[in-house]
Amino acid sequence: MSTYNESAKPKVTTARLLEMKHNGEKIACLTSYDFTMSSIVDAAGIDLILVGDSAANVMMGYDTTLPITLDDMITFAKGTVRGARRAMVIVDLPFGYYQGNPEIALASAVRIMKETGAAGVKLEGGEEILDSIKCILSAGIPVCGHLGLTPQSINKFGGYGVRAKEEAEAERLISDARMLDEAGCFAIVLEKIPSALAAKVTSSVSVPVIGIGAGNNVDGQILVVQDMLGMNRGFSPKFVRHYASLADVMEQALGQYVTDVKAVDFPNASEQY
Ligand code: KIV
Repeated sequence: MSTYNESAKPKVTTARLLEMKHNGEKIACLTSYDFTMSSIVDAAGIDLILVGDSAANVMMGYDTTLPITLDDMITFAKGTVRGARRAMVIVDLPFGYYQGNPEIALASAVRIMKETGAAGVKLEGGEEILDSIKCILSAGIPVCGHLGLTPQSINKFGGYGVRAKEEAEAERLISDARMLDEAGCFAIVLEKIPSALAAKVTSSVSVPVIGIGAGNNVDGQILVVQDMLGMNRGFSPKFVRHYASLADVMEQALGQYVTDVKAVDFPNASEQY
């Protein structure tokens, strides 16, 4: 029996994302880290799924993204890719697996592509990692850049505040974005920067710009899926809109299960063999 589904929508590609920018169609992106969630995210019509290293926070409970390993990312990515039929899936290269050494960067990216079936990788940084980006691109691996608040540099920044508010950092960011564009990145994520700056970058580069906390004058938006579904209680930065309160819904359902088990109400006569 063939698994080919003729009615399936074509997979989103880098070419399709570029076409969307040119047509002014906004690109809807979310993170996901496992099969079940990515099946739902994909069915909802999301164009691009990022297996973000934010998995360090939302899946593993670390305070920063620094501790997550390449093996961890590969495990999360394997399930995510299997759940996505239409969305393009890309994977973050984690801290310590690409900075300062293009050969290590290429080896990390190749492992992700071979072992997960993802369609590309994302790296944080500009000029300082350009050699690593070019080396990965030379192997035909699509690369997404990431500028502004780059959480892998949290110890340099000293906090998760808005970046590039001062002119010098804003100029540097525009120059980095142009470099990533010229090098051949297929998209650039801009995180937590003033919306006017994000608009300027978006009109200065040829590739899609995806914002998170960067206003709406960009080509698309990305959020961490657990944040926008209201699964992380107590995490409500200004740039996150809560589309549901799943933590409350889940706790209520789980509490009902506890009550039913203790009352010997579950399973009932129709729920057993
Ligand atoms: O790791 C991540 O989830 C990200 C997004 C916030 C863009 O990099």
